[in-house]
Amino acid sequence: MKDRFGREISYLRVSVTDRCNLRCVYCMPPEGVPLLNHEDILRYEEILTVLAAAKKMGISHVRLTGGEPLVRKDLDQLVRGIAKMGFEDISLTTNGTLLANYAQILKEAGLMRVNVSLDSLRPDRFSRITRTGRVEDALTGIQAAVRAGLGPVKVNVVVMAGWNLDEVADMVRLTLELPVHVRFIEYMPIGPSEGMEELSGVPPDVIMAQISKSLPGKPEACIAPAGAGPAQTYRLPGAKGTIGFISALSKPFCHSCNRLRLTADGKLRPCLASGIEVDVKEVLRSSKQDSKMRKIEEAFRRAILSKPRAHDLWDGESQARRMCQIGG
Ligand code: 5AD
Ligand code: SF4
Repeated sequence: MKDRFGREISYLRVSVTDRCNLRCVYCMPPEGVPLLNHEDILRYEEILTVLAAAKKMGISHVRLTGGEPLVRKDLDQLVRGIAKMGFEDISLTTNGTLLANYAQILKEAGLMRVNVSLDSLRPDRFSRITRTGRVEDALTGIQAAVRAGLGPVKVNVVVMAGWNLDEVADMVRLTLELPVHVRFIEYMPIGPSEGMEELSGVPPDVIMAQISKSLPGKPEACIAPAGAGPAQTYRLPGAKGTIGFISALSKPFCHSCNRLRLTADGKLRPCLASGIEVDVKEVLRSSKQDSKMRKIEEAFRRAILSKPRAHDLWDGESQARRMCQIGG
């Protein structure tokens, strides 16, 4: 279905949990965030019901997110259910630290590809940025995903001045060895800003200058891998993978945004950066069987029609929900 600005909404990001085994500095305070009650989180069969309505409304790509989706029990069962529904694309965004255990099982369940977050290759720094994670676990997870055929594997790097900008060339070097697509993501001020004052995003031209300074070959513009979304894509001569830039602040892509989000507690969010939400949990739990489907479709219609033209991240206004509570 098209929104008010002619954008065809075909991509649904489904957050399956607000919990995470990491505490990334740009996402959470060290102590974590107040968690949802168990009964407020959609059950797998409820998610599948929402997805049946989503499919009717024209959603063709489903991405599972969190928090960290792999901390939810039996995720492969949800994937199996989704795979039966005939979506064109089923993907997962993960921090990768648990992926080595699950890559093969998820592939067999019908998952098509994964995006893995990796903000540093240096053990001490990775642990500082994620506060609790180990870089070896994320790297083994990425390798397991490549081996399981969950490609094209994307590696998401949130670039922050003073934290990891000096590592971008090393990240690009990963694409020489591995068929992975490294995407440099501009840090976005999402959620309450307390404790995040020292974080600032880096525009793509500054990242590109840093890469050119440290690498002999110049990255050349190329065709984006499948599912690259808003990333502008480049390749180093002879590389197996590509690099890309997702710069929501410096180069907004709202005009081509095709996505909608479902939070773990059953709210449809038309835009990451706006507080607008349409409740589907209430519809799922309180409406009669014969009208349920129609009412969920109606909720989709409302969410799609309330999608704003563009985000307002520039005005620096703090929002209530953090990334892990919306679903990345
Ligand atoms: N700004 C930019 N990217 C973020 N992510 C999480 N929080 C932010 C933020 N404030 C990234 C994660 C992951 C993806 C889902 O979003 O690192 O790669
Ligand atoms: Fe967890 Fe992702 Fe938030 Fe990091 S950014 S704490 S991995 S949900």
